[in-house]
Amino acid sequence: MRGFDTFPVSFRHEAAAVQGASALCDTLNRPLQDLRISVTDRCNLRCSYCMPSDSGPFDFVPTDEHLNFEETDRLVRVFTRLGVRKIRITGGEPLLRPRLPALIRRLRRIPVLGEIALTTNGVLLARNAAALADAGLSRVTVSLDSLDEQVLGSMNGGRALVESVLASIDAASEAGLSPVKINVVVQRGVNDHTVLDLLERFRHSGHVVRMIEYMDTGTRNCWQADDVVPTRELIEWINERWPIKPVPAHYLGEVARRYVYTDGAGEIGFISSISQPFCGSCQRVRLSTDGVLYTCLFATQGTDLRGPLRAGASDNELEKIIAEVWQTRGDRYSEIRASGITRRGKVEMYRVGG
Ligand code: GTP
Ligand code: 5AD
Ligand code: SF4
Ligand code: SF4
Repeated sequence: MRGFDTFPVSFRHEAAAVQGASALCDTLNRPLQDLRISVTDRCNLRCSYCMPSDSGPFDFVPTDEHLNFEETDRLVRVFTRLGVRKIRITGGEPLLRPRLPALIRRLRRIPVLGEIALTTNGVLLARNAAALADAGLSRVTVSLDSLDEQVLGSMNGGRALVESVLASIDAASEAGLSPVKINVVVQRGVNDHTVLDLLERFRHSGHVVRMIEYMDTGTRNCWQADDVVPTRELIEWINERWPIKPVPAHYLGEVARRYVYTDGAGEIGFISSISQPFCGSCQRVRLSTDGVLYTCLFATQGTDLRGPLRAGASDNELEKIIAEVWQTRGDRYSEIRASGITRRGKVEMYRVGG
């Protein structure tokens, strides 16, 4: 495994340099850049790797404890003062949040914000795509683990049909929410035998399929290292059928490693948190539905922002709290996991988004 002090350090310095001398950096010199906002912890699916149906009951946050749109907007404005330029809306399933386009429209008015993207399971996207695009959403990422109905059903609790997710991908593309990215969590012995069929379906489509190594998120998925199909192995399978080659990242800290088919059929991404951790360039912070700030997907604790917000904290006071959290951050869980140490009591993925 590559040492923590090789590639990632130079990458971190470069990232900080791009943001400028005044960038707010954590203890590993990583600037704060991306904010992922979970707008609900409810979901209409029960993915085996996230919230398996037999692992309930789920400790959902009561709705009056959810950040309302005004509070979310206010916090996002404070985050932009600290360097955030990109927002991703997540869940649970974000399209279960009533009036989501109104939130997007509101955030879109924040002048310095670049992209506002959304990660969804796709079930409700077909009927919402046009309204989301009209509100100013930049693009979407849709989860689709297999085109095989039985395999997909076994992974999502039997709650979404392939056809409905495909219709959503089409609707998103027609609405201009592109490039549409398609997330595939690959699990050995579960959906790995269907990966090439899925890739074939999206060659020449303009959509970007991303293969995600199954991760030990949350507390409910019974993750084992043997269930992971390492990216290296996937690349071998794909190369045998359609040669692919790596291409440079779009931006510093991009999670997916980009590859293209050499015959020009499009792009694939690999998200290899297990075999090739990318903590060294991690510039992401996560805000849960109830306004708790998490500095790592695998965190066991966060910092409450809703409390101070509802108690009347000023923007300067909120900025100070967030800045202190970021400046003391030293998270690098996926790198630590690579040395064989795992953690208990991690926040659930449906609470903080992917
Ligand atoms: P773009 O590059 O803007 O398209 O976004 P993204 O790839 O960050 O977004 P997306 O939500 O699609 O992330 C893809 C998946 O990568 C997530 O669902 C997670 O499974 C994983 N992931 C994203 N960020 C992190 C991270 O910070 N750490 C780890 N370990 N995994 C992450
Ligand atoms: N491992 C890898 N990816 C996961 N996701 C959810 N749980 C896991 C996990 N345990 C992905 C989903 C979705 C995004 C929100 O996170 O497939 O694309
Ligand atoms: Fe729902 Fe996404 Fe979790 Fe699946 S991974 S249960 S779609 S929140
Ligand atoms: Fe960032 Fe934590 Fe993921 Fe590492 S494990 S990339 S620190 S969110």
